[in-house]
Amino acid sequence: MKKKLQSLLIIATALIISAQLNAQAKDNTARMNMFISSLMSKMTLEEKIGQMNLPSAWDFTTGTATNSDIGNNVKKGNVGGLFNIKGIEKIKAIQKIAVEESRLKIPLLFGMDVIHGYETTFPIPLGVSATWDMAAIEKSARIAAVEASADGINWTFSPMVDISHDPRWGRVSEGNGEDPYLGSQIAKAMIKGYQGSLTKNNEILACVKHYALYGAPEGGRDYNTVDMSHIRMYNEYFPPYKAAVDAGVGSVMASFNEVDGIPATANKWLMTDVLRKQWGFKGFVVTDYTGINEMIDHGMGNLQTVSALALKAGIDMDMVGEGFLKTLKKSFSEKKITSAEIDLACRRVLEAKYKLGLFEDPYKFLDAQRAKTEIYTSEHRKIAREITAQSFVLLKNKGNVLPLKKAGKIALIGPLADAANNMAGTWSVATVQNRSVSVLAGLKEAVGNKAEVLYAKGSNLTENATLEENATMFGKSLNRDPRPAEEIRQEAIKIAEQSDVIIAALGESAEMSGEASSRSNIGIPMVQQQLLKALIKTGKPVVLLLFTGRPLTLTWEDKNVSAILNAWLAGSEAGNAIADVVFGDVNPSGKITMTFPQNVGQIPIYYAHKNTGRPLEEGKWFSKFRSNYLDVSNDPLYPFGYGLGYSAFEYGNLNLSQTNLKGNQTIKATITITNKGKYDGAEVVQLYIRDKVGSITRPVKELKGFQKIWIKAGETKTAQFNITTDDLKFYNNALKYDWESGEFDIMIGANSRDVKIQKITWNK
Ligand code: BGC
Repeated sequence: MKKKLQSLLIIATALIISAQLNAQAKDNTARMNMFISSLMSKMTLEEKIGQMNLPSAWDFTTGTATNSDIGNNVKKGNVGGLFNIKGIEKIKAIQKIAVEESRLKIPLLFGMDVIHGYETTFPIPLGVSATWDMAAIEKSARIAAVEASADGINWTFSPMVDISHDPRWGRVSEGNGEDPYLGSQIAKAMIKGYQGSLTKNNEILACVKHYALYGAPEGGRDYNTVDMSHIRMYNEYFPPYKAAVDAGVGSVMASFNEVDGIPATANKWLMTDVLRKQWGFKGFVVTDYTGINEMIDHGMGNLQTVSALALKAGIDMDMVGEGFLKTLKKSFSEKKITSAEIDLACRRVLEAKYKLGLFEDPYKFLDAQRAKTEIYTSEHRKIAREITAQSFVLLKNKGNVLPLKKAGKIALIGPLADAANNMAGTWSVATVQNRSVSVLAGLKEAVGNKAEVLYAKGSNLTENATLEENATMFGKSLNRDPRPAEEIRQEAIKIAEQSDVIIAALGESAEMSGEASSRSNIGIPMVQQQLLKALIKTGKPVVLLLFTGRPLTLTWEDKNVSAILNAWLAGSEAGNAIADVVFGDVNPSGKITMTFPQNVGQIPIYYAHKNTGRPLEEGKWFSKFRSNYLDVSNDPLYPFGYGLGYSAFEYGNLNLSQTNLKGNQTIKATITITNKGKYDGAEVVQLYIRDKVGSITRPVKELKGFQKIWIKAGETKTAQFNITTDDLKFYNNALKYDWESGEFDIMIGANSRDVKIQKITWNK
């Protein structure tokens, strides 16, 4: 009785608190609305349009320059926010112009592509996603927000959550791989890390991008046409954007591509019906870089027409192109757009400034003391080192070549071995590039005088000088060696021959992935492969230390190299974290979040594919009249979710609490995992479900849960997943989100291929 009363009391208190919070939120919204209405009543049409303009300040460029007279434009009230500017003093000076010299003294937003860290740089997002550690991912975003805000930035153009099935597309490096469920969890974690409660001076506005479907360009060629069914959009590509909205993301960036034949930037269905009406998004939408102007080339009309189309679709802010600034007034006078449409967009931009607290204190993010003490701190670097080591994926380790002993002579060979300026990877605009720890520096530091590290470059990045130039832009030159390839290689072979073990630091440079860095062949460049072959010929054990911004085709390497450690492009602490893993101070636990194909012809390749009407029988390479290739099996080289460690984890039987369910029940699925090795380590246990019969065709499996569990050597642990009907839901042919009665396979395992299966039936 007493217990019952107590719990009733707790429920009543919770209800009162939540009612009070609701009332408070309503009050805050009412206050904000009043403030903005009053401000807007004083604004001219030009000043409203000015708020919708986002020029670049050219500290670094990410596109073509179109505007230079920033200070004057700010003074005139022509600017709502600014990006591509770094340095607290510079930002402060511009904010001062906005709040002291412009007529209405409206503060500016200061944006930046803080994608995987600010000055303390984490691995590229595809690498961070391989940690499967949501707390670590949130932490990386938190540190990025602390550092960016300490330097005057209050808005980051992150997270990028575009799902992709195509590793030719260079921007897979910026995303979280192929899976909508994992991508959604990561989107939530990052937004929490960046925005927090959006009240403190180290919490900044996030911007989820690129809405929508940017990761599905034809042929993997950046900016190319996208064409997709609505069922696929809703089930496979939309979930991470929606998760970001559910997590309260403050802004959304429109993608460059078309959706249903209309560029996203002018797509009212996408920007208003789906984003706002269906998902309830309350923030503002910014275009991508010159996204409005690019609609002229898409063939949608002249600048005036496309700017009006964008506004009417639901775009609130125009990045760089000045289509709004130059044409909206004219469109208004010609009655092509309404004042209500302009007011709505302007209001949404002002609301974001209000929520950030900029009207209360425009200098909230401009604390010079913080800029001195909170950026690139030893604490941040320590955390980065830990997260970085967690992101590495051990793809192969025949005969336990790894970890290495800190003894004898270690040959470190390859164009990426002494390349500090390439370690941070793509989209690291705030980083001091050559301050990252190179592999050579990291290994030397780790071995001290216990071992000798001998270095040679061994080859250039690519055999083709033009390609190397394109792939090492933005101060990331690898100092191309003009000598013939054979001469450079022989120098390295001599060093390798004197050594006990060879580490070959090969793969992609920082700018071989990222924006406008699509590749049609996604192998290690030929001249580096030739080096690798020559190194293997020495007969010494070879560890391939792989740098890459995407899944590569590694079929030959997998067959011929003993150990492959994928270090992605690993950020500020690259060399240190690599040493931690190579010498066994850290047991690698990363697992890939994107399928590695056997060859380019298999692309698009992803684990959650459909079965088709003519599936290939399990374990077969080829059967006539089945869905397969003559010349390669359907299997990937490494499946989604795959990654090894220095320990072997053995999975026990999969147990289900019941196998015949009705209505809103929950099943408990449990499995034991035993660490059979000598190293303590973390295992990412993955839950997949297959819906065997549906009103639409369903994937052969879908990730529905995962847990990263720490298991000591010799220890056995149990992972438990509670499965509810929410885990069975999907969008049907009428785009209704529900589950359907029938048979399901429940699967748990170490990756998307190696799973234990149990069948169940679940009826309504
Ligand atoms: C990219 C965006 C980026 C923007 C601003 C564009 O080229 O597509 O991801 O946020 O530039 O730098």
